[in-house]
Amino acid sequence: MINVPIIDAYRPLSYAWNYIIPLGCMHMESKAFDVMAYRRTIREGLAMGASFVLLGDNGDFILPGDRKRYRQSNIVKALAGKDNQIEHTICYQYDLLRPIKGHIAAVLMGNHEEACLHFHEVDPAAELAERLGVPYLGMFGAIRWHTMRRDGKSGGTMLHVLHHGAWVSKAAMPQAAVDWFTKNTPQADIITFAHNHTESPVPIPCFDFPRQGASATKRLRYIVACGTMRENYSSEPGDAPGYDVVKGMGVTAIGAPLIAWRRKNLCGGEGHRRVKNRAAGIPSDWIEIRVTI
Ligand SMILES: [Fe+2]
Repeated sequence: MINVPIIDAYRPLSYAWNYIIPLGCMHMESKAFDVMAYRRTIREGLAMGASFVLLGDNGDFILPGDRKRYRQSNIVKALAGKDNQIEHTICYQYDLLRPIKGHIAAVLMGNHEEACLHFHEVDPAAELAERLGVPYLGMFGAIRWHTMRRDGKSGGTMLHVLHHGAWVSKAAMPQAAVDWFTKNTPQADIITFAHNHTESPVPIPCFDFPRQGASATKRLRYIVACGTMRENYSSEPGDAPGYDVVKGMGVTAIGAPLIAWRRKNLCGGEGHRRVKNRAAGIPSDWIEIRVTI
């Protein structure tokens, strides 16, 4: 059995926009975490009723055994040199996330949490998810976003695939990521990943060939690289050079994309809609997605 976690999230059926803000690679206890950008993002998201997803590398987790832990340039003062570092870091993250508790749809782990699990037998992302009371997807999973009719029946579903990311590139959108997702997750309507610390939405229009019936339709999907909240090239004079400097990484995109999605108004019925949409040359699927960075 293939065991990729899939969860369901529900929104009332309406033709108004729903919003999702993916928070990727925040590295919250890092000194380079841009707390102002984070607070601005969650404040704006809350004001518009957005849901948030945490795409992993929520924390840096420079831990015992890794001597970088003792560098003042790496970690916020509140945590530098502390014993029981994992527990303190999870508490620190929880406090920062408290304002959006109840608005987070899912938590993922990144390679930093995976390294923590590998070396210290603790998955801090799973622990964070549990304390927040939020479903945990590991490094790769999916959310079915349902619009629910008043009678309790589904008014349509948007399939959202989430991955922490593994495709590092100096390009804003790693071609390897586009190739991997288009090949392996063809049903996804929206794909979000992080890890690259770049922000870039790529529209992927595709054909939908019906199992029955004569005419194919079009669908517009998106693959979105979701940025970071960790500033790079931020070491102070005298600090050890960071990974970004050593590896010659590009300027990072601080912030998070805004994904808007809604059910189209299908007045006129299925047949009418398809004819009308084909004539207009727009995707004929029921869902409409926009991504802003
Ligand atoms: Fe990462």
